[in-house]
Amino acid sequence: MSALPVFVDVDTGVDDAMALVYLFASEEAEVVGIASSAGNVAVQQVCQNNLALLDLCSVDVPVSKGSASPLTAPLRTAEDTHGPEGMGYAQLPATARGLTEYDAAQAWVRAAQEHPGELIGVATGPLTNLALALRSEPALPRLLRRLVIMGGAFDYRGNTTPVAEWNISVDPEAAAEVFEAWGSGTASGLPIVLGLNLTENIAMMPELMGRLAAEAGSSTRPMSAQDPRGTRSSASNPLIAVLEDAMRFYFEYHFAHNEGYLAHLHDPLAAAVALDPDLVECRRTTVDVELTGTLTRGMTIADWSNLWAREPNALVGVDVDPAAFFDRFIARVGAFAKSSLGEQA
Ligand code: BDR
Ligand code: CA
Repeated sequence: MSALPVFVDVDTGVDDAMALVYLFASEEAEVVGIASSAGNVAVQQVCQNNLALLDLCSVDVPVSKGSASPLTAPLRTAEDTHGPEGMGYAQLPATARGLTEYDAAQAWVRAAQEHPGELIGVATGPLTNLALALRSEPALPRLLRRLVIMGGAFDYRGNTTPVAEWNISVDPEAAAEVFEAWGSGTASGLPIVLGLNLTENIAMMPELMGRLAAEAGSSTRPMSAQDPRGTRSSASNPLIAVLEDAMRFYFEYHFAHNEGYLAHLHDPLAAAVALDPDLVECRRTTVDVELTGTLTRGMTIADWSNLWAREPNALVGVDVDPAAFFDRFIARVGAFAKSSLGEQA
């Protein structure tokens, strides 16, 4: 069976990095392109992170640079959440790899046209690039086999404002354009939309990081809430060391916000669902984005009762089994770290 072509749009980002590694580790998938979105950090830094991850994982995928700013709003970034360079405490060596000469919006279109009806799209950052791609190729919803979006919060609190989730909040206009495009009734399938109501169930914890290192055959010191801030990994496997250093920062951020010594793996869930939608239960509905509310800009609204009488444009995730996700994540990423990178001398 030939591999599933996957195109990923990321604002790497600690959990975006984990999502990319999961996809590289998944034998049924072939990542055919990576779009870099401004978001967690500036777009140039996102590009650097993506290229450096390819070095670390010994994988070759074209990486494209996206728009430096959202469609209309000024860019906001989240170094407080993801670290000064977006990879927590991990520092990735400079890479000699370069970017494609075409931009991220064109990359979406090219990938979809090269794999008509086959391409699986995954968006785990602001939707700026995808909105720009739709402007240049309105047939995109028909060309894609599947689209999975990490974004929004459905009947659930936000993480950026009291009601808005980060990816949607950074570029609400782009998100609104994307949902509108999939609501025209001509798409081959509806996007699977995973909001915070679902992804906050996916809580990475020190014990699970220990399982990951063990699966990779890596020696390491168990991570703990008692460790001094900024403790660096001693893992013998270089990929595990980077993931531990990235995750440490993410743990500390969540801990500082009274969520416990854990971190939500929003984006890896989207990556896993892109390859296997059965990991989540979804409800078909119409989603729209608040653009003008003085308190509610960036809020995602699902019209569960069809009061708007509009075409459905989304399959919103409503239930997930975190243990099933983590079993798969640890098995795949652990085996990948073990086989492709081995042990450091
Ligand atoms: C989303 O925001 C980003 O900070 C994460 O990478 C994730 O994509 C969660 O709201
Ligand atoms: Ca992200």
